[in-house]
Amino acid sequence: MTDVRLQPTAKGLSGSITVPGDKSVSHRSIIFGALAKGKTTVRHFLTGEDCLRTIDAFRALGVSIEQGGDTVIIDSAGKDSFKEPTVPIYFGNSGTTARLLLGVFAALPFHITVYGDASLTKRPMDRVVIPLRQMGAKINGREQGKYLPLAIDGQKLSALTYHTPVKSAQVKSALLLGGLLADGETRISEDVKTRDHTEQMLESFGASIDVAGTTVAVQGGQQLVATDVYVPGDISSAAFFLVAACLVPGSEVVLTNTGLNDTRTGILDVLKQMGADMEINEHDIQAGERIGDITIRYRPLKSTEIGGDIIPRLIDELPILALLATQADGETIIKDAEELRYKETDRIEAIAATLRSFGAEVESTPDGIRIPGNQSLKGATADSFGDHRIGMMIAIASLIAKGETILGDADSINISYPTFFEDLRALQN
Ligand code: S3P
Repeated sequence: MTDVRLQPTAKGLSGSITVPGDKSVSHRSIIFGALAKGKTTVRHFLTGEDCLRTIDAFRALGVSIEQGGDTVIIDSAGKDSFKEPTVPIYFGNSGTTARLLLGVFAALPFHITVYGDASLTKRPMDRVVIPLRQMGAKINGREQGKYLPLAIDGQKLSALTYHTPVKSAQVKSALLLGGLLADGETRISEDVKTRDHTEQMLESFGASIDVAGTTVAVQGGQQLVATDVYVPGDISSAAFFLVAACLVPGSEVVLTNTGLNDTRTGILDVLKQMGADMEINEHDIQAGERIGDITIRYRPLKSTEIGGDIIPRLIDELPILALLATQADGETIIKDAEELRYKETDRIEAIAATLRSFGAEVESTPDGIRIPGNQSLKGATADSFGDHRIGMMIAIASLIAKGETILGDADSINISYPTFFEDLRALQN
């Protein structure tokens, strides 16, 4: 529960950084590396707390995983070599570990109990438990298995055809993983395409999948084959510095080797629409993941409306975009984002409370938030609520707020961006 004291920045941010590896891709690299036969080397892995929980989970199943810095080597003989864990498995704060591994564990011939921290224990698991039960999964817990802790009695699963009622890549991915380990063809459709890292990685580990619009089908029983993975910089982490550059006059920042998967780049579309001075130089594609450098310079921006199909493409960036909106010209409306209420915190209320503590006026709505622009911020004593993205939002707000800001529970930032303050300092020098 560390407090960090922050001062407004004296000058524009400048320089070039590569943010740590993408959280979603890092989790999946471990899951797929463990399910595959052979040796998978992962480079530029995110060593944030959440992804370490995924490593721990597979180590508990007996998989050999060596981690040195941001390189991880997974040496596995595939799922038939997994052993029944003798202790409960701790998912910490990680929703992605919890949802995706429920899909895997439901199909293994073991009894496994899983639990999480106080925040994860309040987040809904029924969005994966209900469809997994339709596949034959036996998962038990409080309130019909809605919340962790959960006990899983692994079963041979059968295939599923399912339309996800929530716009969630975690749900889609859990069911595709369950489907990969089940008998027959599993077909998952969604209203709006959510992030597709699972689909990209299934293909790069040698599985054949069928993607048609917003429907993905996978044949059960395919054996994955190890492959090396380079994890692009996480655009959700880059987002904090993209916005910082738009907030602090005189800034010019380059974010190199950033993931540009178009199921994740909603923030770039919004920044363009707000008038940002930005160039994108896409120069690589690794295992289906597009990669490039983003250059962004300070320029005053105009307000916008963020809602509809773009929401899943920028769901994790809404806290930092809400901060940006306080400085734009005009009122910004964020809507259709009720999913924010089911994140590490109720992020609609956490965003509103945080901006208010900086003296801003905002109005929360059931599915979003309305933010008048051109507001001046004053230094605040603000807590991250244990939510990494709220913590980083507070740190970026402090750069333009008048006076000192004290960020409480700054440690939460280690969940997704352990080197956040180092990178911030590098851009301030
Ligand atoms: C993630 C999907 C999103 C996102 C989370 C990571 C993933 O969650 O917010 O940070 O890796 O699949 P939902 O699937 O709940 O929207």
